[in-house]
Amino acid sequence: MRHSALPVPVIAAIEALPHDAHPMGVILAGLNALSTFHPEQNPALQGGGIYRSHDVQDKQIVRIIGKMTTLAAHAYHRNTGRTPAHPNQTMGYAENFLYMLDAGLDPNHRPNPRLAKALDVMFLLHAEHEMNCSTAAARHLASSGVDVYSAVAGAVGALYGPLHGGANEAVLKMLARIGNKEAIPAFLKRVKDKKEKMFGFGHRVYKNFDPRANVIREVAEEVFRLVGRDPLIDVAVELEKAARQDEYFVQRKLYPNVDFYSGLVYRALGFPPEFFTVLFAVPRAAGYLAHWRESLTDPDAKIARPQQVYQGEWLRAYPALAARPPASSDSMWHVQVSNASRRRLAGGSSSGKEFRPSSGGGVTGGKSFAHPPRDVGLGPAFSSGVVPGDATGGVDKLFHAR
Ligand SMILES: CC(C)(COP(=O)(O)OP(=O)(O)OC[C@H]1O[C@@H](n2cnc3c(N)ncnc32)[C@H](O)[C@@H]1OP(=O)(O)O)[C@@H](O)C(=O)NCCC(=O)NCCS
Repeated sequence: MRHSALPVPVIAAIEALPHDAHPMGVILAGLNALSTFHPEQNPALQGGGIYRSHDVQDKQIVRIIGKMTTLAAHAYHRNTGRTPAHPNQTMGYAENFLYMLDAGLDPNHRPNPRLAKALDVMFLLHAEHEMNCSTAAARHLASSGVDVYSAVAGAVGALYGPLHGGANEAVLKMLARIGNKEAIPAFLKRVKDKKEKMFGFGHRVYKNFDPRANVIREVAEEVFRLVGRDPLIDVAVELEKAARQDEYFVQRKLYPNVDFYSGLVYRALGFPPEFFTVLFAVPRAAGYLAHWRESLTDPDAKIARPQQVYQGEWLRAYPALAARPPASSDSMWHVQVSNASRRRLAGGSSSGKEFRPSSGGGVTGGKSFAHPPRDVGLGPAFSSGVVPGDATGGVDKLFHAR
């Protein structure tokens, strides 16, 4: 797999992120960092016409597709605390990805070819799916003429949401919550009462069946043969059966979608749930890039500017500024404050001689400050069980009350 090496500063940017960063955040950061490389292709620097060249277009396409698995391997090992193996140019796409995850210091490591094939099939099924939310986001960003790395990063950001790419992670959490077949009727009742959403069901376009779901069920069986059967698959199969016989789902044409079984495959392959969306983003980059390329050749393409239809009040009386209540009394602005912030805000700012003892007490311990510690008015701490941000008292009061 060529074009898979990351510039060293991109790796450094990833390594600067918290060790428990959500891997999608890592991919986003990596793509944004990549946008700062290759200035020769950046329309903001080279002018809007730079992407008229097919050579320039195609170079960015192979770069991004090649680097997505490497970004993903780094995102994975950001959480494990290990270092991915360097990409291996002699291997196929999914195979090289598994190699980067598992080879460690052993350059002779070879991923199981059937698992690599299963992952390849998963990647193919996710590579493109016409004008969905994240692809539309890619095209929207690209319409402004921004560099393609930023456009793909924007699309990956849209994919991150649980109603889109995050759905397979949500399915797994849902199946784990249901736990066993006996709990299915009660769960379905909650869905029908609109207290729960049935993740992995329903689709904006497929109102009969998502054909990808059938293929993924077969892939799941192949993966289970190699690495062991996941007990949640039985809950999933039973849940699908029960839902498809239920009037609520039948009437609304709600069928399993691509995400219903894919989480189970990924879990069996050893990926943590928060990594599932990454396994969607990696192949879908190809779809984003195909749309990007197509949008560049569209003679009618203009900057995206969705029309907004104002449906609010037409004429409204409003009070003069001076007659309005102070902003602090606005109940919309109850910003929660952490205990760590309370500790910091309970302090003050002192400088040299101005720091002198005073008769004051409480949290200042008899000292006074050049800028006195603020009565931050934050209300009781979280641990007291009172809603934070409910501005009923200050930190001083909090301490004196004890
Ligand atoms: C994908 C999804 C966003 C499509 O939404 P949509 O086409 O706009 O569907 P609508 O919101 O118009 O739903 C139509 C009806 O079905 C219900 N419905 C849709 N998906 C549902 C679900 N997953 N669980 C329960 N009810 C659902 C809606 O509540 C609505 O019911 P109502 O007529 O009583 O109000 C939606 O089906 C969903 O949220 N699915 C779960 C998330 C998921 O799996 N996403 C991955 C998609 S590949």
